[in-house]
Parts: sequence; C-alpha cells; structure tokens
Amino acid sequence: MAHESERNGRWATLEIRKAVLPVAGLGTRFLPATKSQPKEMLPIVDKPLVQYGVEEVAASGIPLAIFVTGRGKNAIEDHFDVSFELEHMLAGRGKERLLNQVRSISRLVEINYVRQKNPLGLGHALLMAKAMIGAEPFAVLLADDIIDAPVPCLKQMMEVFRRFGGSVVAIQNVDRKAVSSYGIIKGTPVADADLRDRLFRITDMVEKPEPREAPSNLAIIGRYILTPSIFKELASTPRGAGGEIQLTDALRRLLKKEPVYGFIFEGKRYDAGDKLGFLEATVEIALKQPEIGKPFRKYLKGLKI
Ligand code: UTP
Repeated sequence: MAHESERNGRWATLEIRKAVLPVAGLGTRFLPATKSQPKEMLPIVDKPLVQYGVEEVAASGIPLAIFVTGRGKNAIEDHFDVSFELEHMLAGRGKERLLNQVRSISRLVEINYVRQKNPLGLGHALLMAKAMIGAEPFAVLLADDIIDAPVPCLKQMMEVFRRFGGSVVAIQNVDRKAVSSYGIIKGTPVADADLRDRLFRITDMVEKPEPREAPSNLAIIGRYILTPSIFKELASTPRGAGGEIQLTDALRRLLKKEPVYGFIFEGKRYDAGDKLGFLEATVEIALKQPEIGKPFRKYLKGLKI
C-alpha cells in the first residue's frame, strides 16, 4: 500500500486553469453520420456531445477550454460562438427562454482553438496544445465520455490533484470481457481515509490487453489531470498502435519519473463514442428531462420487448 508521504508533490500548489478537449478524431465508428459533420456535434437529446463536456469544464471552475480541432470541425467553433442572427430572431419573436439558452452557450468559458493537421492520435493532439498550456498542470476531457455525477468528474479529480500533486487519470471498473477496449492500469492502493479503495498509485498500464493478460479490471476513461512533464514524454514517444502517438505510451514513461494516480470517480459514465453507449446515454438522459421524461418513460414501458 502506498502511503500519505506522497502527498503534495511539487505541482500541487498550482491551479488547474486550462482544459484541453481534443476533437480532431475522424469518428469512424459513427460513419456515415460523421461523413460531413463532427462526431462531437451529434446530439444527446437536444445538446451536442461536446456541450456536455464544456459544461463540465465550466462547472469544475476551469475558465479556459482549448479545443484541438481538425478539418471539418467548424460546426464546433460556430456552436460556441455568438449567433447574432439567431439571437436577433429569437428576441424578435419573444422566445426568451430559448434566447437565454442559446446565449449561455457562448458564455460558458473562454475558448481557444488549435489545429491538428493530421489525426495522428490523442497523444499527438495534446502536443498541439503545448504552447497554449505552457508550464502548468492542466485537464483533458474527451467529449465521448459523458459523466453524470453529483460533483463534476474533473472537479473531483482536481481535488485529488490538489492533495497529492501528481497526474491523475480517471478509472472505472469494467467487465473482464471489456478490458480489450481500454487502457488498463496496474496499481497500488493509496492509504487514505477519504479515498479508501478509490485511489491507486499506478505502477504500469497496458493499452487494450487481452482479458487473460490484463493486470486489473480498472480501465482509463476520458478525463485526465496532467502535469506539463507529459509534453516531454509525448515528444519522445514513437508512433505506436495504428501509427498513432498514444497518450497511454507517454503516461507509461511519465509514471517512471513522477507519481501518476488512478482515481475511481463518483458518477455514471456513458461511452457516447460507441453506438450502444450513445443510445444508453440518450435513453437515460431523456428519462431525466423535465419536458419529455414522463411521456418517454410511458412510451418505453409500452414497447413489447
Ligand atoms: P477516438 O479513439 O474515439 O477516435 O478518440 P475518433 O476518431 O474520435 O473516433 P473513432 O474511434 O474513429 O470512431 C478519442 C478522442 O481523441 C480525439 C477524438 O476527437 C476523441 O475526442 N482525437 C483522436 C484527436 O483529437 N486526434 C486524433 O488524432 C485522434
């Protein structure tokens, strides 16, 4: 068991002020829907995937989101921009509620954009944000993972970071059969009264292992708090699986030099980057909507399945 003396690494006093949202992937699992529109703009009920992510960034108190975008992703920039014509039209028709909703999107957080010219992997996408991040710790959010939580997932992780001062990756227990879809950690539980059985000092990680070779059932999901040391590791990480620069490979190098923690967050995560997960998110989020929740429940109950 790792002990409390690990606390307050050298980065702990720095605040997390920036969140990187890589959105430059090709979204092949959703073709043909993603042929001419970004995957991140697919709606879960009435909000695009990426808006759930930006709302989590804002609710975690992070003032700046940095989007790593690519070709064909302009709709994302437009979504978070002011839409003068639409606002003017809604104001003219007295649609105050809709107007406020539309306006609030462009006011959630400050947004900067950087381009990834070739989708060479998540690790490569993060490297594109290096100049904008500089020498401070930062958050990463993959908009595919929607997390419904009493306290926003990133906020929970920022608290862990503040106390322990090393990089933190969000993890969750998955079925043994499912491990081959994830990065899987090997870790030592950290002795901590508040985080009993939920915090691990990571000693190794494996990308998409076969079930019998997996060191645990603890899978890395799309939320990270990273120290800027990750950039040095990313820059020297060779292309791995699929010719891409993998974040997992860089994290494996980092954990040999600095503590990296795996944190089992509180909340429910939907893998909206996958068709089944996307449908699960749609159904469960729709059931919670004040306007359609009740009739939708009635409709589902009436299905003869
Ligand atoms: P995924 O592995 O989900 O890839 O990327 P993808 O291209 O989005 O989707 P599929 O698998 O082809 O259906 C995880 C995250 O990393 C971003 C994606 O946009 C997504 O948010 N990403 C991935 C980049 O920004 N650049 C890349 O080169 C690869």
